[in-house]
Amino acid sequence: MSASVSQTAGKITTHVLQRMKNNHEKIAMLTAYDYSMATLLGQAGIEVILVGDSAANVMAGYKTTLPITLDQMIYHASSVVKAVDKPLVVVDMPFGTYQGNSKEALHSAIRIMKESGADAIKLEGGHEIVESIDRILTAGIPVMGHLGLTPQSINKFGTYVVRAQEQEEAEKLKEDALLLEKTGCFAIVLEKIPATLAGEVTRSLHIPTIGIGAGNQVDGQVLVLHDMLGITMEFSPRYLRRYMNLSEDITQAVKRYIEDVKSMDFPNASEQY
Ligand code: KIV
Repeated sequence: MSASVSQTAGKITTHVLQRMKNNHEKIAMLTAYDYSMATLLGQAGIEVILVGDSAANVMAGYKTTLPITLDQMIYHASSVVKAVDKPLVVVDMPFGTYQGNSKEALHSAIRIMKESGADAIKLEGGHEIVESIDRILTAGIPVMGHLGLTPQSINKFGTYVVRAQEQEEAEKLKEDALLLEKTGCFAIVLEKIPATLAGEVTRSLHIPTIGIGAGNQVDGQVLVLHDMLGITMEFSPRYLRRYMNLSEDITQAVKRYIEDVKSMDFPNASEQY
């Protein structure tokens, strides 16, 4: 096996991700929405940070990702960008800023890149948004695609169940993946689809695929940070591996602090001036 592309690279660029796929080296991606968490992700060696519109759920408490605005995404993205040098920072274009009007899509993408300093943007959908992707690419902005379960279309799907289990939808997804690659996307997120289908799509493409609930035959994985750290306990899909139980740890820490304040144990003599 040749030397790790990711470790020997400086800044992770879209070209580095392509070299990682060519070298059969898996890509690790996580979401972040703020400076402190992004700093830790960078220190740990994450390759890609997604400023996901899942911020609508985990940061703002909305039930879906639809309400988050372009200004809010730019605020989250600029906080993340300030924290890291090496990881590629990708920003989700929020619902309503790119569908159906490619000029508006380009305008939104330029605002994200200019005002946040991010490296790339991500859009949800296939053939129906190709015109927008095409126009954004003409401005030299790298685009990541997103197929399968696309949460911005939750009102059309009506449910968050596994997508593309039927032949017809699977065929459409395969066609969309090829179309996104041909249009010029540098990578595609595949969300909540059967592992065999994700493997088939991955082998049919030159560009990397990043899976979430898509099995291990993809080129990389992404999880929502607050889910994998066990902060958001109400969300428990089968694909989610929790690496910590932070909700429990934080609750216990806050309880101890409250007790210490009430009992005047905090602050003690060495904690005051
Ligand atoms: O918004 C997000 O966090 C995402 C990931 C689930 C891929 O799009």
